[in-house]
Amino acid sequence: MELKEAIYKRRTIRIYNNDPVNDEEIRELISAAIQAPTACNFQLWKFIVINDLALLNKIYSAGGAAFIKNVKQAILVTYSNQTDNLEYKDFIESASASIENMLLMATELGIGTCWVNNLPNKSKLRNIFGIPRGYDPIALITIGHYDKEPKYVARKNTVDELISYNYFDFKDIEKKNQFKLWIIRVGRIMYKILPGKRFLYKIVGRLEKKFDN
Ligand SMILES: Cc1cc2nc3c(=O)[nH]c(=O)nc-3n(C[C@H](O)[C@H](O)[C@H](O)COP(=O)(O)O)c2cc1C
Repeated sequence: MELKEAIYKRRTIRIYNNDPVNDEEIRELISAAIQAPTACNFQLWKFIVINDLALLNKIYSAGGAAFIKNVKQAILVTYSNQTDNLEYKDFIESASASIENMLLMATELGIGTCWVNNLPNKSKLRNIFGIPRGYDPIALITIGHYDKEPKYVARKNTVDELISYNYFDFKDIEKKNQFKLWIIRVGRIMYKILPGKRFLYKIVGRLEKKFDN
């Protein structure tokens, strides 16, 4: 597959069949991930392959996205947070570059992925997976083979609408309702720290954004 084809074909897939992604494929994904650029060429990533359903269920129960409870395999991407560039949080950028490489390689291999950051608080993930304080969990990449081919999703804007030269010269600027945004932010924090929130799962599941793949 040409790179261009993989870029345009890549889609998020959240429903997987029972055909597991084998170890060789997983290593190929991680090998692609570590070809990505990193700030100062530090390459300080660590990848936790999760194939234990009880652990995936723990992520879900601790506040992760609802579909995680049906996932059988995932890769938790972590990166050293010991950076001097706090302004740009470069460890997140470095890890994100590796994730996109992984997703493109998965597309080439016919493996479905979903980049997930609707996750429990980082401290919870640290406890579950023994991640030391010097590392941050960045995202969970769920993986699996799939039956239903994803369809192309048109972009929200054209390139012409998204480009300006030498100055931030755009008329169409995103203006979110700040009050609503803060309510949602606080709601998210409260939900994650609430003990014994099992009784809320149904309500939260209904509120969670639904996707058709
Ligand atoms: C930083 C990031 C976080 C995401 N977090 C979630 C998530 O928590 N749950 C989820 O179902 N999808 C998540 N996604 C996947 C997006 O929903 C998906 O990329 C988007 O709907 C566009 O679909 P596409 O990937 O097929 O183009 C995330 C994607 C990114 C880049």
